[in-house]
Amino acid sequence: MVTAEQLYEKLKDIQVGNPICRFTQENCELLLPTIRKIEELKREKNAIILVHNYVAPQIYYSVADFTGDSYGLSKKAKESNADVIVFAAVRFMAETAKILNPQKTVLDPNPNGGCSLADGITAEDVIRLRKEFPDHTFVCYINTTAEVKAQCDVCVTSSNVYAIIEKIPNNKIYFLPDRLMGENVINHFKSKGLNKDIQLWDGTCYVHEEYQPESIDQVRRNFEGVEILVHPECSSSVVGKADYVGSTSQMLNHVRESNGDSFFLVTECGLTGVLQSEFPQKTFAGSCTLCKYMKSNSLEDILNVLENPGPENTITLDPETQQRSLQCVERMFEYSAH
Ligand code: 13P
Ligand code: SF4
Repeated sequence: MVTAEQLYEKLKDIQVGNPICRFTQENCELLLPTIRKIEELKREKNAIILVHNYVAPQIYYSVADFTGDSYGLSKKAKESNADVIVFAAVRFMAETAKILNPQKTVLDPNPNGGCSLADGITAEDVIRLRKEFPDHTFVCYINTTAEVKAQCDVCVTSSNVYAIIEKIPNNKIYFLPDRLMGENVINHFKSKGLNKDIQLWDGTCYVHEEYQPESIDQVRRNFEGVEILVHPECSSSVVGKADYVGSTSQMLNHVRESNGDSFFLVTECGLTGVLQSEFPQKTFAGSCTLCKYMKSNSLEDILNVLENPGPENTITLDPETQQRSLQCVERMFEYSAH
């Protein structure tokens, strides 16, 4: 059970976001009654709480049983013995936990937690594309709805997209919905001399598409020796300037293992906040972009969903979507295992 002192210790070095996001010991004390009620309900209902790396730090450092990227959290959901999974992130992540756990109750405290990628393509779009590209293997990014996954062959995340597409025996791939990530995959294969016919859907993440290569040049000029870490949802002109490209958890691990002392993370700034807390002796260059969907999670909503979940909070999938999307997600785990 976290105390106000322990929570403040974790939050005190976080400098991202606007000044109202700075934490004091008093703020932490005010959060404690809600945190205690959540802990009590977790025990009562045999529930676990999964929290994505971008979610607000007062949630990340208080009630989370597991934190991580979309691959790591899906794996935790798959392995869990809990009866109830509360997923503090965005809708497609909670849906993926339900796909992997049809018998469990999966609760989404943030039912309006969309994602510009997941919201940019429908199952009908994929059905149409499959007619147009009948020989292609359809690979979907995890940032898609369960209905879209149900129409695709293999799911990938930012942590395994290059490796899985490389392993797929078919040289004809349709990758959706992230065009920028798809362009990065194409460039990665070109640099390795691999030749695949990769078709792309024109979706983007509204946060990552905004980053420009000029800001990386500027940070390099201002911070000598800075390491630039980039999420593969960024454009190829930004990825091309990176020292390291990876998922949110891979970036976190990279900083943990690096001997460097100054970093610039080109991704949603919740991750920079976590790193500031974990490595207060290291410097993280400024610039902050928030994902409004991830940031709409709150401790109050987590408590409400455990106390009294509404139909909008409880993930349900029709049996056909459930079964077909499970095949798509399971193939990701199979490819990741070999
Ligand atoms: P990760 O799987 O790298 O955490 O990415 C999820 C996401 O939505 C990034 O914008
Ligand atoms: Fe979706 Fe972008 Fe937000 Fe990630 S950061 S959840 S890709 S909108």
